[in-house]
Amino acid sequence: MKKIAVFTSGGDSPGMNACIRSVVRTGIYHRLEMYSIMYGYDGMIRGDIKKMQSHSVSNIVQRGGTILKSARSQDFRTKEGRQKAYEQLQKFGIEGLVAIGGDGTFTGAKVFFEEYGIPTVGCPGTIDNDIYGTDYTIGFDTAVNTALEAIDKIRDTAAAHDRIFFIEVMGRDSGYIGIECGIGGGAEMVMVPETKTSIEDVVRSLKGLRKSKTSSIVIVAEGDEAGDASQIMEKVKRHFQNDEKEFKVTTLGHIQRGGNPTAMDRLLGSRCGMAAVEGLLQGESNCMAGVINDMVVYTSFEDCISKEKPLKSDYLKLQEMLSI
Ligand code: F6P
Repeated sequence: MKKIAVFTSGGDSPGMNACIRSVVRTGIYHRLEMYSIMYGYDGMIRGDIKKMQSHSVSNIVQRGGTILKSARSQDFRTKEGRQKAYEQLQKFGIEGLVAIGGDGTFTGAKVFFEEYGIPTVGCPGTIDNDIYGTDYTIGFDTAVNTALEAIDKIRDTAAAHDRIFFIEVMGRDSGYIGIECGIGGGAEMVMVPETKTSIEDVVRSLKGLRKSKTSSIVIVAEGDEAGDASQIMEKVKRHFQNDEKEFKVTTLGHIQRGGNPTAMDRLLGSRCGMAAVEGLLQGESNCMAGVINDMVVYTSFEDCISKEKPLKSDYLKLQEMLSI
């Protein structure tokens, strides 16, 4: 294998640049020709491909976002789109791919590999930490720290006014950001999609907590079955009608996706990037390079996509115990 291309796809995450840098430089270190594809699968279809040098990835290890841009491609979901993408890769003589992204990215990579057989290794790039086959995903740690910084600030004002705040964090269908923010931010309650929490439970807990606390923080993970933070707040509020307490909602949103990556995300991105290229050279394919128990592990795309990564149950218990 002489020519490898790297791309980022799906939602960007802090540390993707560190990963791109590692892929490019590991390839050059092994005397490969390295290429980048802009805008993920959309760029692959358009042939938005260029040769990378070592200096092409200078001064990016510390930057959030992705220098290769990203997209959620609709065209790549079609057979025609993938055919065009294959033709473009052939034109450039690309013999291996490194796909940095989440489960949508790997679903596309798996189908493409099965159709055209171009060896592909993935790197787990998403703030959600919802990928099976790695303890952490690139960007998760930064996202949690960004959210925590905001939660700390909200707590100051919540305490000053004796308010109950519902803070919505990202994570689509996953409560990883929610639970780690709940523990780290000292939240009174955490609502995540993995566990069912009824409005009655929330009301009961908040009323109980009022005996010892004047203000409360409830973290709501995006995708919770009870609704978004505003909907939950409205439902809860109805049970506090004669109470002078004020209820507020803050949705942290895309602030969690940006910013300089933490040391952990820079390191994880760098390790996975190197493992992806060296994996390709050793014959790994149709799989993701992740880190489990501090060891690089290759997990098939099939498992990454289809197997669930459950929340750590002791984390849920820990949060509950510490919120009394
Ligand atoms: O997958 C990462 C993520 O940030 C999710 O947490 C969130 O639900 C989604 O992407 C938002 O996507 P978009 O930026 O396309 O609105």
